[in-house]
Amino acid sequence: MIEAPVIREFYNTFGKSPSFFIQVPGRVNLIGEHTDYNGFPVLPISIPYYITAAGSPRRDHTMNIRNTDSRYDESSFILSSSIPPARNGHWSNYVRAASQALADFSGGSLTGADVLFSGSIPGSAGLSSSSALVIASALSILAANNLNVDILELAELMAEGEHYVGTQGGGMDQAICLLGCKDHAVKIDFFPLRYAHVPFPADHSIVVAHSLIRAAKTENALLLYNRRPAECRLATALLNTILALEIPLQRLGDLPGKCADITESFVKSIFDRDSYSLEDIAKIIEEQPESITQRYLMTRNGIPMPVPPDGFLIQQRALHVFSEAERVEKTCKALMENDTETFGSLMNDSHTSCDTLYGISTPELNTLVSVMRSFGASGARLTGAGFGGCAVALVRDDSIEQVIGGIRKEYYDGYIRKTHPELRNADNFREIIFAVKPSSGASTVVL
Ligand code: GLA
Repeated sequence: MIEAPVIREFYNTFGKSPSFFIQVPGRVNLIGEHTDYNGFPVLPISIPYYITAAGSPRRDHTMNIRNTDSRYDESSFILSSSIPPARNGHWSNYVRAASQALADFSGGSLTGADVLFSGSIPGSAGLSSSSALVIASALSILAANNLNVDILELAELMAEGEHYVGTQGGGMDQAICLLGCKDHAVKIDFFPLRYAHVPFPADHSIVVAHSLIRAAKTENALLLYNRRPAECRLATALLNTILALEIPLQRLGDLPGKCADITESFVKSIFDRDSYSLEDIAKIIEEQPESITQRYLMTRNGIPMPVPPDGFLIQQRALHVFSEAERVEKTCKALMENDTETFGSLMNDSHTSCDTLYGISTPELNTLVSVMRSFGASGARLTGAGFGGCAVALVRDDSIEQVIGGIRKEYYDGYIRKTHPELRNADNFREIIFAVKPSSGASTVVL
Protein backbone atom coordinates (compact mmCIF):
# COMPACT_ATOMS: atom_id res chain seq x y z
CA MET A 1 0.00 0.00 0.00
CA ILE A 2 1.34 3.44 -0.91
CA GLU A 3 1.63 5.84 2.01
CA ALA A 4 2.29 8.98 -0.04
CA PRO A 5 0.84 12.09 1.65
CA VAL A 6 -0.67 13.10 -1.70
CA ILE A 7 -3.09 10.17 -1.36
CA ARG A 8 -4.42 11.38 2.02
CA GLU A 9 -4.51 14.89 0.69
CA PHE A 10 -6.51 13.73 -2.34
CA TYR A 11 -9.20 12.43 -0.02
CA ASN A 12 -9.28 15.72 1.90
CA THR A 13 -9.50 17.70 -1.35
CA PHE A 14 -11.97 15.70 -3.41
CA GLY A 15 -13.86 13.77 -0.67
CA LYS A 16 -13.17 10.40 -2.30
CA SER A 17 -10.27 7.95 -2.57
CA PRO A 18 -7.96 8.15 -5.57
CA SER A 19 -8.00 5.24 -7.99
CA PHE A 20 -4.49 5.70 -9.31
CA PHE A 21 -1.13 7.00 -8.12
CA ILE A 22 1.61 8.13 -10.46
CA GLN A 23 5.22 8.95 -9.74
CA VAL A 24 7.51 10.55 -12.34
CA PRO A 25 11.18 11.32 -11.63
CA GLY A 26 13.23 14.38 -12.55
CA ARG A 27 16.49 13.94 -14.37
CA VAL A 28 20.01 15.16 -14.73
CA ASN A 29 21.69 14.96 -18.07
CA LEU A 30 25.21 13.58 -17.70
CA ILE A 31 26.32 14.67 -21.16
CA GLY A 32 24.84 15.46 -24.60
CA GLU A 33 23.46 18.97 -24.18
CA HIS A 34 21.26 20.48 -26.90
CA THR A 35 21.96 17.46 -29.08
CA ASP A 36 18.49 15.89 -28.88
CA TYR A 37 16.60 18.20 -31.26
CA ASN A 38 19.53 17.84 -33.67
CA GLY A 39 19.00 14.09 -33.86
CA PHE A 40 22.09 13.22 -31.82
CA PRO A 41 22.09 11.17 -28.60
CA VAL A 42 21.92 12.25 -24.96
CA LEU A 43 22.94 10.44 -21.76
CA PRO A 44 20.67 11.35 -18.82
CA ILE A 45 19.75 9.58 -15.58
CA SER A 46 16.52 9.68 -13.57
CA ILE A 47 16.89 11.06 -10.05
CA PRO A 48 14.84 10.18 -6.97
CA TYR A 49 12.94 13.49 -6.84
CA TYR A 50 9.43 13.31 -8.22
CA ILE A 51 6.23 14.80 -9.52
CA THR A 52 3.45 12.65 -8.11
CA ALA A 53 -0.21 12.57 -9.03
CA ALA A 54 -3.15 10.98 -7.27
CA GLY A 55 -6.34 10.88 -9.27
CA SER A 56 -9.62 9.32 -10.18
CA PRO A 57 -11.74 9.39 -13.35
CA ARG A 58 -14.74 11.67 -13.65
CA ARG A 59 -18.01 11.05 -15.46
CA ASP A 60 -17.47 13.96 -17.85
CA HIS A 61 -14.60 15.29 -19.97
CA THR A 62 -13.27 17.81 -17.45
CA MET A 63 -9.72 17.81 -16.12
CA ASN A 64 -9.98 19.22 -12.65
CA ILE A 65 -6.50 19.76 -11.30
CA ARG A 66 -5.09 20.85 -7.96
CA ASN A 67 -1.64 21.13 -6.49
CA THR A 68 -0.57 20.48 -2.90
CA ASP A 69 1.67 23.55 -3.19
CA SER A 70 -0.57 26.56 -2.57
CA ARG A 71 1.56 28.70 -4.92
CA TYR A 72 -0.07 26.79 -7.79
CA ASP A 73 -3.76 27.58 -7.96
CA GLU A 74 -6.45 25.15 -9.10
CA SER A 75 -7.50 24.93 -12.73
CA SER A 76 -9.97 23.05 -14.86
CA PHE A 77 -10.56 22.60 -18.57
CA ILE A 78 -12.37 20.28 -20.96
CA LEU A 79 -10.49 17.56 -22.83
CA SER A 80 -11.30 18.57 -26.39
CA SER A 81 -9.64 18.96 -29.77
CA SER A 82 -8.75 22.55 -28.88
CA ILE A 83 -7.70 23.16 -25.28
CA PRO A 84 -7.09 26.85 -24.59
CA PRO A 85 -3.87 27.70 -22.74
CA ALA A 86 -3.95 29.40 -19.35
CA ARG A 87 -1.94 32.59 -18.94
CA ASN A 88 1.75 32.39 -19.84
CA GLY A 89 3.83 30.63 -17.17
CA HIS A 90 0.79 29.01 -15.47
CA TRP A 91 1.61 25.49 -14.25
CA SER A 92 -1.57 24.04 -15.73
CA ASN A 93 -0.18 24.66 -19.22
CA TYR A 94 1.98 21.56 -18.83
CA VAL A 95 -1.09 19.51 -17.94
CA ARG A 96 -2.93 21.11 -20.86
CA ALA A 97 0.00 20.28 -23.16
CA ALA A 98 -0.22 16.57 -22.32
CA SER A 99 -4.02 16.67 -22.53
CA GLN A 100 -4.00 18.31 -25.96
CA ALA A 101 -1.49 15.79 -27.31
CA LEU A 102 -3.52 12.84 -26.02
CA ALA A 103 -6.80 14.33 -27.24
CA ASP A 104 -5.29 14.67 -30.73
CA PHE A 105 -3.74 11.21 -30.56
CA SER A 106 -6.87 9.40 -29.40
CA GLY A 107 -9.08 11.30 -31.83
CA GLY A 108 -12.05 10.46 -29.62
CA SER A 109 -13.59 11.74 -26.46
CA LEU A 110 -11.46 11.16 -23.39
CA THR A 111 -12.82 10.81 -19.88
CA GLY A 112 -11.65 13.59 -17.58
CA ALA A 113 -10.16 13.19 -14.12
CA ASP A 114 -9.77 14.84 -10.74
CA VAL A 115 -6.02 14.96 -10.15
CA LEU A 116 -3.95 16.26 -7.27
CA PHE A 117 -0.31 16.93 -8.14
CA SER A 118 2.59 17.25 -5.78
CA GLY A 119 6.30 17.54 -6.33
CA SER A 120 9.79 17.39 -4.86
CA ILE A 121 11.79 18.32 -7.99
CA PRO A 122 13.13 21.86 -7.56
CA GLY A 123 11.57 24.10 -10.23
CA SER A 124 13.44 26.31 -12.74
CA ALA A 125 16.54 24.29 -11.91
CA GLY A 126 17.17 22.38 -15.14
CA LEU A 127 16.04 19.13 -13.50
CA SER A 128 13.04 18.64 -15.76
CA SER A 129 10.22 19.31 -13.32
CA SER A 130 8.11 20.56 -16.26
CA SER A 131 8.45 17.47 -18.42
CA ALA A 132 7.86 15.29 -15.35
CA LEU A 133 4.59 17.18 -14.90
CA VAL A 134 3.71 16.63 -18.57
CA ILE A 135 4.37 12.90 -18.24
CA ALA A 136 2.49 12.66 -14.91
CA SER A 137 -0.46 14.37 -16.62
CA ALA A 138 -0.37 12.02 -19.59
CA LEU A 139 -0.18 8.94 -17.36
CA SER A 140 -3.09 10.28 -15.29
CA ILE A 141 -5.29 10.64 -18.37
CA LEU A 142 -4.28 7.18 -19.60
CA ALA A 143 -5.04 5.69 -16.17
CA ALA A 144 -8.41 7.46 -15.98
CA ASN A 145 -9.30 6.09 -19.40
CA ASN A 146 -7.82 2.66 -18.85
CA LEU A 147 -5.66 3.12 -21.92
CA ASN A 148 -2.16 1.91 -22.73
CA VAL A 149 0.21 3.59 -25.14
CA ASP A 150 3.60 2.15 -26.04
CA ILE A 151 6.23 3.85 -23.89
CA LEU A 152 8.39 5.08 -26.80
CA GLU A 153 5.34 6.32 -28.67
CA LEU A 154 4.18 8.14 -25.55
CA ALA A 155 7.60 9.77 -25.04
CA GLU A 156 7.63 11.02 -28.66
CA LEU A 157 4.06 12.22 -28.43
CA MET A 158 4.77 14.19 -25.25
CA ALA A 159 8.00 15.70 -26.60
CA GLU A 160 6.01 17.16 -29.48
CA GLY A 161 3.08 17.88 -27.15
CA GLU A 162 5.19 20.02 -24.81
CA HIS A 163 5.76 22.53 -27.65
CA TYR A 164 2.25 23.70 -26.63
CA VAL A 165 3.93 25.83 -23.94
CA GLY A 166 6.08 27.62 -26.53
CA THR A 167 9.46 25.89 -26.14
CA GLN A 168 10.97 24.15 -29.15
CA GLY A 169 12.74 21.48 -27.10
CA GLY A 170 13.85 18.01 -28.09
CA GLY A 171 12.77 14.67 -26.70
CA MET A 172 15.28 13.96 -23.93
CA ASP A 173 13.29 14.97 -20.87
CA GLN A 174 10.03 13.18 -21.65
CA ALA A 175 11.95 10.05 -22.68
CA ILE A 176 14.12 9.80 -19.57
CA CYS A 177 11.12 10.41 -17.31
CA LEU A 178 9.69 7.19 -18.74
CA LEU A 179 12.87 5.20 -19.39
CA GLY A 180 15.01 5.87 -16.30
CA CYS A 181 16.78 2.80 -14.93
CA LYS A 182 18.24 2.24 -11.46
CA ASP A 183 22.06 2.31 -11.40
CA HIS A 184 22.23 3.07 -15.13
CA ALA A 185 22.45 6.04 -17.41
CA VAL A 186 20.27 5.80 -20.49
CA LYS A 187 21.68 6.56 -23.91
CA ILE A 188 18.76 7.90 -25.88
CA ASP A 189 18.71 8.35 -29.66
CA PHE A 190 16.04 10.19 -31.58
CA PHE A 191 14.15 10.13 -34.90
CA PRO A 192 13.08 7.43 -34.19
CA LEU A 193 13.36 7.23 -30.42
CA ARG A 194 15.48 4.32 -29.13
CA TYR A 195 17.55 3.67 -26.05
CA ALA A 196 20.22 1.56 -24.34
CA HIS A 197 21.18 1.22 -20.67
CA VAL A 198 24.76 2.14 -19.76
CA PRO A 199 26.12 1.11 -16.33
CA PHE A 200 26.85 3.96 -13.94
CA PRO A 201 30.01 3.53 -11.82
CA ALA A 202 28.93 1.81 -8.58
CA ASP A 203 31.31 3.76 -6.32
CA HIS A 204 30.38 7.22 -7.66
CA SER A 205 27.44 9.59 -7.32
CA ILE A 206 26.30 12.75 -9.00
CA VAL A 207 26.34 15.84 -6.81
CA VAL A 208 23.71 18.30 -7.98
CA ALA A 209 23.87 21.94 -6.90
CA HIS A 210 21.67 24.84 -7.94
CA SER A 211 23.51 27.95 -9.11
CA LEU A 212 20.56 29.87 -7.58
CA ILE A 213 19.96 31.56 -10.94
CA ARG A 214 16.48 30.59 -12.05
CA ALA A 215 16.23 29.12 -15.53
CA ALA A 216 12.51 29.20 -16.30
CA LYS A 217 12.00 27.71 -19.72
CA THR A 218 8.70 29.45 -20.34
CA GLU A 219 9.88 32.78 -18.95
CA ASN A 220 13.38 34.28 -18.98
CA ALA A 221 15.01 31.39 -20.81
CA LEU A 222 12.38 30.86 -23.52
CA LEU A 223 13.84 33.11 -26.18
CA LEU A 224 17.40 32.16 -25.27
CA TYR A 225 16.51 28.48 -25.59
CA ASN A 226 14.49 28.72 -28.82
CA ARG A 227 17.25 30.68 -30.51
CA ARG A 228 19.51 27.59 -30.42
CA PRO A 229 17.21 25.14 -32.29
CA ALA A 230 16.57 27.96 -34.79
CA GLU A 231 20.30 28.45 -35.37
CA CYS A 232 20.65 24.69 -35.86
CA ARG A 233 17.79 24.70 -38.40
CA LEU A 234 19.59 27.47 -40.28
CA ALA A 235 22.85 25.50 -40.09
CA THR A 236 21.07 22.53 -41.65
CA ALA A 237 19.65 24.69 -44.45
CA LEU A 238 23.12 26.08 -45.17
CA LEU A 239 24.64 22.58 -45.21
CA ASN A 240 22.01 21.40 -47.69
CA THR A 241 22.92 24.18 -50.09
CA ILE A 242 26.68 24.19 -49.61
CA LEU A 243 27.05 20.42 -49.89
CA ALA A 244 24.40 20.30 -52.66
CA LEU A 245 22.92 17.23 -51.04
CA GLU A 246 20.53 15.24 -53.20
CA ILE A 247 18.45 14.17 -50.21
CA PRO A 248 18.31 17.24 -47.97
CA LEU A 249 19.14 16.79 -44.30
CA GLN A 250 16.30 17.46 -41.89
CA ARG A 251 18.65 18.12 -39.02
CA LEU A 252 22.38 18.19 -38.28
CA GLY A 253 22.29 14.61 -37.03
CA ASP A 254 21.35 13.38 -40.52
CA LEU A 255 24.80 14.24 -41.86
CA PRO A 256 26.18 10.90 -43.07
CA GLY A 257 29.21 9.44 -41.32
CA LYS A 258 30.32 9.48 -37.72
CA CYS A 259 30.74 12.67 -35.68
CA ALA A 260 34.38 11.73 -35.19
CA ASP A 261 34.86 12.28 -38.94
CA ILE A 262 33.33 15.78 -38.82
CA THR A 263 36.41 17.78 -38.00
CA GLU A 264 36.65 21.32 -36.73
CA SER A 265 38.26 22.42 -39.99
CA PHE A 266 35.42 20.86 -42.01
CA VAL A 267 32.83 22.74 -39.96
CA LYS A 268 34.79 25.98 -40.26
CA SER A 269 35.16 25.52 -44.02
CA ILE A 270 31.40 25.16 -44.40
CA PHE A 271 30.43 27.90 -41.96
CA ASP A 272 33.22 30.34 -42.59
CA ARG A 273 31.87 33.41 -40.75
CA ASP A 274 31.81 34.21 -37.05
CA SER A 275 28.27 35.49 -37.36
CA TYR A 276 25.55 35.45 -40.02
CA SER A 277 22.87 38.01 -40.73
CA LEU A 278 19.54 36.98 -42.24
CA GLU A 279 20.71 38.56 -45.49
CA ASP A 280 23.95 36.50 -45.47
CA ILE A 281 21.90 33.32 -45.16
CA ALA A 282 19.41 34.48 -47.80
CA LYS A 283 22.24 35.04 -50.28
CA ILE A 284 23.79 31.61 -49.70
CA ILE A 285 20.63 29.57 -49.82
CA GLU A 286 19.05 31.80 -52.50
CA GLU A 287 15.83 32.38 -50.64
CA GLN A 288 14.13 35.61 -49.62
CA PRO A 289 14.72 36.71 -45.98
CA GLU A 290 10.92 36.72 -45.42
CA SER A 291 10.65 33.13 -46.55
CA ILE A 292 13.58 32.11 -44.31
CA THR A 293 11.81 33.77 -41.39
CA GLN A 294 8.63 31.83 -42.16
CA ARG A 295 10.40 28.50 -42.53
CA TYR A 296 12.93 28.62 -39.73
CA LEU A 297 12.19 31.37 -37.25
CA MET A 298 8.50 31.17 -36.39
CA THR A 299 7.29 30.65 -32.82
CA ARG A 300 4.09 28.94 -31.80
CA ASN A 301 2.16 32.15 -31.31
CA GLY A 302 2.84 33.17 -34.92
CA ILE A 303 5.42 35.81 -34.05
CA PRO A 304 8.87 35.42 -35.62
CA MET A 305 11.89 35.20 -33.33
CA PRO A 306 13.95 38.37 -33.36
CA VAL A 307 17.27 38.22 -35.20
CA PRO A 308 19.84 38.17 -32.37
CA PRO A 309 21.81 41.44 -32.04
CA ASP A 310 25.06 39.48 -32.41
CA GLY A 311 23.71 37.64 -35.48
CA PHE A 312 23.25 33.89 -35.92
CA LEU A 313 26.30 32.12 -34.46
CA ILE A 314 26.04 29.13 -36.74
CA GLN A 315 29.66 28.01 -36.87
CA GLN A 316 29.92 27.98 -33.05
CA ARG A 317 26.62 26.13 -32.63
CA ALA A 318 27.58 23.47 -35.17
CA LEU A 319 31.01 22.99 -33.59
CA HIS A 320 29.33 22.37 -30.23
CA VAL A 321 26.68 20.00 -31.56
CA PHE A 322 29.06 17.75 -33.54
CA SER A 323 31.70 17.64 -30.80
CA GLU A 324 29.12 17.07 -28.05
CA ALA A 325 27.62 14.16 -29.99
CA GLU A 326 31.08 12.63 -30.20
CA ARG A 327 31.56 13.15 -26.44
CA VAL A 328 28.36 11.18 -25.77
CA GLU A 329 29.76 8.22 -27.71
CA LYS A 330 33.09 8.47 -25.89
CA THR A 331 31.33 8.71 -22.51
CA CYS A 332 29.33 5.55 -23.20
CA LYS A 333 32.55 3.74 -24.04
CA ALA A 334 34.25 5.08 -20.91
CA LEU A 335 31.32 3.99 -18.74
CA MET A 336 31.29 0.51 -20.25
CA GLU A 337 34.96 0.31 -19.19
CA ASN A 338 34.28 1.91 -15.77
CA ASP A 339 36.78 4.62 -16.72
CA THR A 340 35.62 7.47 -14.49
CA GLU A 341 38.65 9.64 -15.20
CA THR A 342 37.82 9.85 -18.91
CA PHE A 343 34.14 10.35 -18.11
CA GLY A 344 35.02 13.25 -15.78
CA SER A 345 37.23 14.95 -18.29
CA LEU A 346 34.56 14.60 -21.01
CA MET A 347 32.12 16.32 -18.63
CA ASN A 348 34.60 19.17 -18.23
CA ASP A 349 35.07 19.47 -22.02
CA SER A 350 31.31 19.46 -22.48
CA HIS A 351 30.94 22.35 -20.04
CA THR A 352 33.56 24.39 -21.88
CA SER A 353 31.82 23.76 -25.19
CA CYS A 354 28.39 24.66 -23.69
CA ASP A 355 29.92 27.87 -22.41
CA THR A 356 32.14 29.08 -25.22
CA LEU A 357 30.40 27.69 -28.31
CA TYR A 358 26.76 27.25 -27.35
CA GLY A 359 26.57 30.25 -25.02
CA ILE A 360 24.32 28.57 -22.45
CA SER A 361 26.42 28.92 -19.32
CA THR A 362 26.50 31.82 -16.88
CA PRO A 363 29.25 33.29 -14.68
CA GLU A 364 27.55 31.58 -11.72
CA LEU A 365 27.56 28.14 -13.36
CA ASN A 366 31.19 28.61 -14.42
CA THR A 367 32.14 29.43 -10.84
CA LEU A 368 30.11 26.53 -9.46
CA VAL A 369 31.73 23.93 -11.72
CA SER A 370 35.21 25.23 -10.85
CA VAL A 371 34.40 24.96 -7.15
CA MET A 372 33.10 21.41 -7.65
CA ARG A 373 36.31 20.40 -9.39
CA SER A 374 38.56 22.11 -6.87
CA PHE A 375 36.97 20.11 -4.02
CA GLY A 376 37.59 16.76 -5.66
CA ALA A 377 34.91 16.16 -8.32
CA SER A 378 36.21 14.02 -11.19
CA GLY A 379 34.29 16.24 -13.62
CA ALA A 380 31.58 18.90 -13.52
CA ARG A 381 29.28 20.65 -15.94
CA LEU A 382 25.99 22.47 -16.23
CA THR A 383 22.98 20.24 -16.87
CA GLY A 384 19.86 20.74 -18.98
CA ALA A 385 18.98 23.78 -21.03
CA GLY A 386 21.43 26.10 -19.24
CA PHE A 387 21.01 29.88 -18.65
CA GLY A 388 21.06 29.13 -14.92
CA GLY A 389 19.77 26.13 -13.00
CA CYS A 390 21.98 23.32 -11.71
CA ALA A 391 25.50 22.07 -12.21
CA VAL A 392 26.33 18.39 -11.76
CA ALA A 393 29.56 16.76 -10.65
CA LEU A 394 30.85 13.21 -10.84
CA VAL A 395 32.08 12.41 -7.34
CA ARG A 396 33.49 9.31 -5.66
CA ASP A 397 31.14 8.25 -2.86
CA ASP A 398 33.84 8.80 -0.25
CA SER A 399 34.32 12.42 -1.41
CA ILE A 400 30.66 13.51 -1.41
CA GLU A 401 30.85 15.28 1.94
CA GLN A 402 33.99 17.10 0.96
CA VAL A 403 32.52 18.33 -2.34
CA ILE A 404 29.18 19.37 -0.80
CA GLY A 405 31.00 21.10 2.08
CA GLY A 406 33.22 22.91 -0.41
CA ILE A 407 30.26 24.11 -2.49
CA ARG A 408 28.50 25.44 0.62
CA LYS A 409 31.59 27.26 1.77
CA GLU A 410 33.03 28.60 -1.47
CA TYR A 411 29.97 28.97 -3.65
CA TYR A 412 26.91 29.71 -1.48
CA ASP A 413 28.59 31.34 1.52
CA GLY A 414 31.41 32.90 -0.48
CA TYR A 415 30.63 33.71 -4.10
CA ILE A 416 26.83 34.04 -3.89
CA ARG A 417 26.91 36.03 -0.67
CA LYS A 418 29.30 38.46 -2.32
CA THR A 419 27.78 38.70 -5.80
CA HIS A 420 24.06 38.07 -5.14
CA PRO A 421 23.31 38.78 -1.46
CA GLU A 422 19.59 38.91 -2.32
CA LEU A 423 19.66 35.23 -3.40
CA ARG A 424 21.42 33.75 -0.41
CA ASN A 425 18.25 32.98 1.52
CA ALA A 426 15.79 32.66 -1.34
CA ASP A 427 15.58 28.88 -1.37
CA ASN A 428 15.68 25.91 0.91
CA PHE A 429 19.27 24.66 0.92
CA ARG A 430 18.35 21.01 1.33
CA GLU A 431 16.45 21.17 -1.91
CA ILE A 432 19.24 22.61 -3.98
CA ILE A 433 22.27 20.57 -3.13
CA PHE A 434 22.22 16.80 -2.98
CA ALA A 435 23.96 13.63 -4.14
CA VAL A 436 22.13 11.03 -6.22
CA LYS A 437 22.56 7.76 -8.02
CA PRO A 438 20.48 6.84 -11.07
CA SER A 439 16.93 5.78 -10.16
CA SER A 440 14.00 4.18 -11.98
CA GLY A 441 11.58 5.82 -14.40
CA ALA A 442 7.89 6.64 -14.08
CA SER A 443 5.38 4.26 -12.52
CA THR A 444 1.60 4.01 -12.34
CA VAL A 445 -0.13 2.13 -9.53
CA VAL A 446 -3.81 1.33 -9.82
CA LEU A 447 -5.19 1.51 -6.28
C1 GLA B 1 15.87 21.19 -22.25
C2 GLA B 1 15.03 20.54 -23.34
C3 GLA B 1 15.70 19.25 -23.83
C4 GLA B 1 17.16 19.48 -24.22
C5 GLA B 1 17.88 20.21 -23.10
C6 GLA B 1 19.29 20.58 -23.47
O1 GLA B 1 15.88 20.40 -21.11
O2 GLA B 1 13.76 20.24 -22.87
O3 GLA B 1 14.97 18.73 -24.91
O4 GLA B 1 17.25 20.16 -25.43
O5 GLA B 1 17.21 21.40 -22.69
O6 GLA B 1 20.06 19.45 -23.67
